[in-house]
Amino acid sequence: MKTNNEQAKIVLVTGGSRGIGKSIALHAAERGLGVILTYNNRSEEGLAVAAEIKGNGGKAVALQLNAADIRSFSRFAGQVSEALRQEWNRENFDYLVNNAGIAQRTLIKDTTEEQFDELVNVNFKGVFFLTQKLLPLINDGGQIINITSGLARFAFPGVAVYGALKAATEALTRYFAKEYADRKIRVNSVAPGAIDTEFGGGKGDEAHRQQIAASTALGRLGEADDIGAFVVSLLSDDSRFVNAQRIEAGGGIMI
Ligand SMILES: NC(=O)c1ccc[n+]([C@@H]2O[C@H](COP(=O)([O-])OP(=O)(O)OC[C@H]3O[C@@H](n4cnc5c(N)ncnc54)[C@H](OP(=O)(O)O)[C@@H]3O)[C@@H](O)[C@H]2O)c1
Repeated sequence: MKTNNEQAKIVLVTGGSRGIGKSIALHAAERGLGVILTYNNRSEEGLAVAAEIKGNGGKAVALQLNAADIRSFSRFAGQVSEALRQEWNRENFDYLVNNAGIAQRTLIKDTTEEQFDELVNVNFKGVFFLTQKLLPLINDGGQIINITSGLARFAFPGVAVYGALKAATEALTRYFAKEYADRKIRVNSVAPGAIDTEFGGGKGDEAHRQQIAASTALGRLGEADDIGAFVVSLLSDDSRFVNAQRIEAGGGIMI
Protein backbone atom coordinates (compact mmCIF):
# COMPACT_ATOMS: atom_id res chain seq x y z
CA MET A 1 0.00 0.00 0.00
CA LYS A 2 1.23 3.49 -0.77
CA THR A 3 -0.11 6.78 0.49
CA ASN A 4 -1.27 9.04 -2.31
CA ASN A 5 -0.04 12.45 -1.17
CA GLU A 6 -2.56 14.27 -3.31
CA GLN A 7 -5.43 12.89 -1.28
CA ALA A 8 -6.59 14.40 2.00
CA LYS A 9 -5.51 12.30 4.95
CA ILE A 10 -8.12 10.51 7.03
CA VAL A 11 -8.03 10.05 10.81
CA LEU A 12 -10.03 7.60 12.91
CA VAL A 13 -10.58 8.86 16.47
CA THR A 14 -12.11 6.59 19.09
CA GLY A 15 -14.24 8.28 21.74
CA GLY A 16 -14.83 11.28 19.48
CA SER A 17 -18.24 12.15 20.85
CA ARG A 18 -17.04 14.27 23.77
CA GLY A 19 -14.09 15.76 25.59
CA ILE A 20 -10.61 15.28 24.18
CA GLY A 21 -11.70 13.01 21.31
CA LYS A 22 -14.29 15.51 20.12
CA SER A 23 -11.65 18.24 20.14
CA ILE A 24 -9.25 16.02 18.15
CA ALA A 25 -12.00 15.33 15.60
CA LEU A 26 -12.89 19.03 15.21
CA HIS A 27 -9.27 20.20 14.99
CA ALA A 28 -8.48 17.48 12.45
CA ALA A 29 -11.41 18.56 10.27
CA GLU A 30 -10.30 22.20 10.56
CA ARG A 31 -6.94 21.16 9.12
CA GLY A 32 -8.65 19.46 6.19
CA LEU A 33 -8.46 15.85 7.35
CA GLY A 34 -11.34 13.45 6.78
CA VAL A 35 -12.67 12.16 10.11
CA ILE A 36 -14.10 8.86 11.26
CA LEU A 37 -15.08 9.19 14.90
CA THR A 38 -16.62 6.71 17.28
CA TYR A 39 -19.04 7.00 20.17
CA ASN A 40 -20.09 4.32 22.63
CA ASN A 41 -23.39 5.15 24.43
CA ARG A 42 -23.90 8.76 23.48
CA SER A 43 -24.92 8.35 19.84
CA GLU A 44 -26.55 11.79 19.64
CA GLU A 45 -23.33 13.50 20.68
CA GLY A 46 -21.24 11.43 18.28
CA LEU A 47 -23.57 12.15 15.37
CA ALA A 48 -23.63 15.85 16.33
CA VAL A 49 -19.82 16.07 16.06
CA ALA A 50 -19.94 14.53 12.57
CA ALA A 51 -22.78 16.90 11.61
CA GLU A 52 -20.79 19.91 12.87
CA ILE A 53 -17.82 18.90 10.72
CA LYS A 54 -20.02 18.42 7.66
CA GLY A 55 -21.78 21.73 8.38
CA ASN A 56 -18.36 23.40 8.18
CA GLY A 57 -17.66 21.81 4.79
CA GLY A 58 -15.61 18.84 6.05
CA LYS A 59 -16.12 15.12 5.70
CA ALA A 60 -16.96 12.94 8.70
CA VAL A 61 -18.60 9.67 9.64
CA ALA A 62 -19.66 8.65 13.17
CA LEU A 63 -19.72 4.93 14.05
CA GLN A 64 -20.66 3.09 17.24
CA LEU A 65 -17.84 1.25 19.01
CA ASN A 66 -17.55 -0.36 22.42
CA ALA A 67 -13.80 -0.63 22.97
CA ALA A 68 -14.35 -3.44 25.50
CA ASP A 69 -16.22 -5.63 23.01
CA ILE A 70 -13.29 -7.27 21.26
CA ARG A 71 -15.53 -9.65 19.30
CA SER A 72 -17.24 -6.72 17.59
CA PHE A 73 -13.98 -5.42 16.09
CA SER A 74 -14.19 -7.47 12.86
CA ARG A 75 -17.64 -6.07 12.19
CA PHE A 76 -16.39 -2.59 13.11
CA ALA A 77 -13.45 -2.88 10.67
CA GLY A 78 -15.99 -3.81 7.99
CA GLN A 79 -18.00 -0.68 8.80
CA VAL A 80 -14.83 1.43 8.57
CA SER A 81 -14.07 -0.05 5.13
CA GLU A 82 -17.60 0.67 4.01
CA ALA A 83 -17.41 4.27 5.26
CA LEU A 84 -14.06 4.78 3.51
CA ARG A 85 -15.49 3.55 0.21
CA GLN A 86 -18.72 5.50 0.44
CA GLU A 87 -17.39 8.83 1.73
CA TRP A 88 -13.92 8.96 0.25
CA ASN A 89 -13.75 6.24 -2.42
CA ARG A 90 -10.73 4.90 -0.53
CA GLU A 91 -9.65 1.54 0.90
CA ASN A 92 -7.43 2.88 3.69
CA PHE A 93 -7.02 5.64 6.23
CA ASP A 94 -3.88 7.34 7.56
CA TYR A 95 -4.03 8.01 11.28
CA LEU A 96 -5.55 6.15 14.22
CA VAL A 97 -6.01 7.92 17.55
CA ASN A 98 -6.84 5.51 20.37
CA ASN A 99 -8.51 8.01 22.67
CA ALA A 100 -11.56 6.23 24.16
CA GLY A 101 -11.08 5.51 27.83
CA ILE A 102 -12.72 5.18 31.23
CA ALA A 103 -11.63 6.45 34.63
CA GLN A 104 -11.15 4.81 38.00
CA ARG A 105 -12.16 6.27 41.35
CA THR A 106 -11.38 3.47 43.82
CA LEU A 107 -8.58 2.89 46.26
CA ILE A 108 -6.66 -0.37 45.81
CA LYS A 109 -8.34 -1.88 48.88
CA ASP A 110 -11.81 -1.27 47.40
CA THR A 111 -11.17 -2.26 43.78
CA THR A 112 -13.16 -5.29 42.65
CA GLU A 113 -12.18 -7.80 39.99
CA GLU A 114 -15.10 -6.55 37.84
CA GLN A 115 -13.83 -2.97 38.01
CA PHE A 116 -10.29 -4.14 37.26
CA ASP A 117 -11.42 -6.17 34.24
CA GLU A 118 -13.52 -3.34 32.82
CA LEU A 119 -10.56 -0.96 33.05
CA VAL A 120 -8.30 -3.52 31.39
CA ASN A 121 -10.80 -4.22 28.62
CA VAL A 122 -11.47 -0.60 27.62
CA ASN A 123 -8.11 1.03 28.37
CA PHE A 124 -5.66 -1.70 27.34
CA LYS A 125 -7.01 -4.90 25.77
CA GLY A 126 -9.32 -2.89 23.52
CA VAL A 127 -6.44 -0.65 22.40
CA PHE A 128 -4.30 -3.68 21.54
CA PHE A 129 -6.91 -5.64 19.58
CA LEU A 130 -8.57 -2.68 17.87
CA THR A 131 -5.18 -1.49 16.62
CA GLN A 132 -4.32 -5.04 15.51
CA LYS A 133 -7.62 -5.28 13.64
CA LEU A 134 -7.35 -1.85 11.98
CA LEU A 135 -3.67 -2.01 10.96
CA PRO A 136 -4.43 -3.62 7.58
CA LEU A 137 -6.57 -0.55 6.82
CA ILE A 138 -3.89 1.99 7.80
CA ASN A 139 -1.72 3.32 4.99
CA ASP A 140 2.01 2.64 5.07
CA GLY A 141 3.69 5.77 6.42
CA GLY A 142 0.68 6.47 8.66
CA GLN A 143 0.66 7.11 12.39
CA ILE A 144 -1.02 5.75 15.51
CA ILE A 145 -1.39 7.92 18.59
CA ASN A 146 -2.38 6.38 21.91
CA ILE A 147 -3.82 8.79 24.46
CA THR A 148 -2.30 7.83 27.80
CA SER A 149 -1.98 9.98 30.93
CA GLY A 150 0.32 11.87 33.25
CA LEU A 151 -0.80 9.23 35.75
CA ALA A 152 1.45 6.77 33.93
CA ARG A 153 4.37 8.81 35.35
CA PHE A 154 3.19 9.92 38.81
CA ALA A 155 0.82 8.42 41.35
CA PHE A 156 -2.37 9.67 43.01
CA PRO A 157 -4.58 7.61 45.32
CA GLY A 158 -7.62 6.03 43.65
CA VAL A 159 -6.28 5.47 40.15
CA ALA A 160 -3.79 2.62 40.55
CA VAL A 161 -5.17 0.29 37.88
CA TYR A 162 -5.87 3.16 35.48
CA GLY A 163 -2.36 4.60 35.89
CA ALA A 164 -0.70 1.22 35.54
CA LEU A 165 -2.67 0.48 32.35
CA LYS A 166 -1.72 3.85 30.84
CA ALA A 167 1.93 3.02 31.61
CA ALA A 168 1.39 -0.37 29.96
CA THR A 169 -0.07 1.38 26.90
CA GLU A 170 3.06 3.54 26.71
CA ALA A 171 5.17 0.37 26.64
CA LEU A 172 2.84 -1.11 24.02
CA THR A 173 3.34 2.04 21.94
CA ARG A 174 7.03 1.19 21.61
CA TYR A 175 6.29 -2.45 20.70
CA PHE A 176 3.85 -1.45 17.96
CA ALA A 177 6.42 1.05 16.65
CA LYS A 178 8.99 -1.76 16.55
CA GLU A 179 6.83 -4.36 14.81
CA TYR A 180 5.30 -1.98 12.23
CA ALA A 181 8.51 -0.09 11.39
CA ASP A 182 8.77 -2.07 8.14
CA ARG A 183 5.59 -0.30 7.03
CA LYS A 184 6.96 3.07 8.25
CA ILE A 185 3.99 3.40 10.58
CA ARG A 186 4.92 5.65 13.49
CA VAL A 187 3.39 4.99 16.90
CA ASN A 188 3.46 7.59 19.67
CA SER A 189 1.62 8.28 22.89
CA VAL A 190 0.33 11.63 24.06
CA ALA A 191 -0.11 11.84 27.83
CA PRO A 192 -2.52 14.60 28.91
CA GLY A 193 -2.24 16.14 32.37
CA ALA A 194 -5.44 17.07 34.24
CA ILE A 195 -7.96 18.07 31.57
CA ASP A 196 -11.30 19.68 32.35
CA THR A 197 -13.75 17.19 30.79
CA GLU A 198 -16.51 14.95 32.14
CA PHE A 199 -13.94 12.16 32.55
CA GLY A 200 -14.59 10.20 35.74
CA GLY A 201 -17.32 12.68 36.68
CA GLY A 202 -15.14 15.74 36.19
CA LYS A 203 -12.44 17.35 38.28
CA GLY A 204 -14.50 17.76 41.48
CA ASP A 205 -14.99 20.71 43.80
CA GLU A 206 -13.23 24.05 43.61
CA ALA A 207 -10.69 23.18 46.32
CA HIS A 208 -9.63 20.06 44.42
CA ARG A 209 -9.41 21.95 41.14
CA GLN A 210 -7.24 24.60 42.78
CA GLN A 211 -5.01 21.88 44.18
CA ILE A 212 -4.51 20.41 40.69
CA ALA A 213 -3.86 23.86 39.24
CA ALA A 214 -1.29 24.51 41.96
CA SER A 215 0.60 21.32 41.10
CA THR A 216 0.75 22.37 37.44
CA ALA A 217 3.55 24.74 36.40
CA LEU A 218 1.24 26.69 34.08
CA GLY A 219 -1.14 27.13 37.03
CA ARG A 220 -4.35 25.81 35.50
CA LEU A 221 -6.23 22.68 34.44
CA GLY A 222 -6.03 21.86 30.75
CA GLU A 223 -8.93 22.22 28.34
CA ALA A 224 -9.90 19.55 25.81
CA ASP A 225 -8.73 21.92 23.08
CA ASP A 226 -5.21 22.05 24.60
CA ILE A 227 -4.93 18.36 23.76
CA GLY A 228 -6.98 18.31 20.54
CA ALA A 229 -4.86 21.01 18.93
CA PHE A 230 -1.62 19.32 19.99
CA VAL A 231 -2.56 15.82 18.84
CA VAL A 232 -3.61 17.12 15.43
CA SER A 233 -0.33 19.06 15.12
CA LEU A 234 1.39 15.65 15.23
CA LEU A 235 -0.79 14.28 12.42
CA SER A 236 1.35 15.57 9.61
CA ASP A 237 4.74 15.08 7.99
CA ASP A 238 6.12 17.80 10.28
CA SER A 239 6.47 15.09 12.95
CA ARG A 240 7.92 12.55 10.48
CA PHE A 241 10.93 11.60 12.64
CA VAL A 242 9.04 11.36 15.94
CA ASN A 243 8.42 7.70 16.67
CA ALA A 244 7.89 5.44 19.69
CA GLN A 245 7.71 8.45 22.01
CA ARG A 246 5.70 9.43 25.07
CA ILE A 247 4.90 13.13 24.85
CA GLU A 248 3.27 14.71 27.89
CA ALA A 249 0.85 17.58 27.31
CA GLY A 250 0.13 18.57 30.87
CA GLY A 251 1.23 22.14 31.42
CA GLY A 252 4.11 20.87 33.55
CA ILE A 253 2.11 18.86 36.09
CA MET A 254 3.96 17.26 39.04
CA ILE A 255 7.43 18.34 37.97
N1 LIG B 1 -9.68 14.26 31.24
C1 LIG B 1 -8.48 14.03 31.79
O1 LIG B 1 -8.09 14.63 32.80
C2 LIG B 1 -7.54 13.03 31.15
C3 LIG B 1 -6.21 13.05 31.58
C4 LIG B 1 -5.31 12.14 31.02
C5 LIG B 1 -5.74 11.25 30.05
N2 LIG B 1 -7.04 11.25 29.65
C6 LIG B 1 -7.43 10.29 28.63
O2 LIG B 1 -7.99 10.95 27.52
C7 LIG B 1 -8.95 10.12 26.88
C8 LIG B 1 -10.26 10.87 26.70
O3 LIG B 1 -10.68 11.34 27.94
P1 LIG B 1 -11.79 12.50 28.11
O4 LIG B 1 -11.36 13.34 29.24
O5 LIG B 1 -12.09 13.14 26.81
O6 LIG B 1 -13.04 11.60 28.59
P2 LIG B 1 -14.62 11.80 28.43
O7 LIG B 1 -14.96 13.24 28.29
O8 LIG B 1 -15.21 11.00 29.53
O9 LIG B 1 -14.94 11.08 27.01
C9 LIG B 1 -14.73 9.70 26.89
C10 LIG B 1 -14.96 9.27 25.45
O10 LIG B 1 -14.67 7.86 25.38
C11 LIG B 1 -15.83 7.15 24.94
N3 LIG B 1 -15.93 5.88 25.62
C12 LIG B 1 -16.13 5.63 26.94
N4 LIG B 1 -16.20 4.32 27.18
C13 LIG B 1 -16.05 3.69 25.98
C14 LIG B 1 -16.05 2.35 25.57
N5 LIG B 1 -16.24 1.32 26.41
N6 LIG B 1 -15.85 2.08 24.25
C15 LIG B 1 -15.66 3.09 23.36
N7 LIG B 1 -15.69 4.39 23.69
C16 LIG B 1 -15.88 4.69 24.99
C17 LIG B 1 -17.01 8.07 25.26
O11 LIG B 1 -18.10 7.72 24.40
P3 LIG B 1 -19.65 8.14 24.79
O12 LIG B 1 -19.72 9.63 24.64
O13 LIG B 1 -20.51 7.45 23.79
O14 LIG B 1 -19.86 7.70 26.19
C18 LIG B 1 -16.38 9.44 24.99
O15 LIG B 1 -16.39 9.72 23.62
C19 LIG B 1 -9.05 8.86 27.75
O16 LIG B 1 -8.26 7.82 27.21
C20 LIG B 1 -8.48 9.29 29.08
O17 LIG B 1 -7.92 8.21 29.79
C21 LIG B 1 -7.95 12.12 30.18
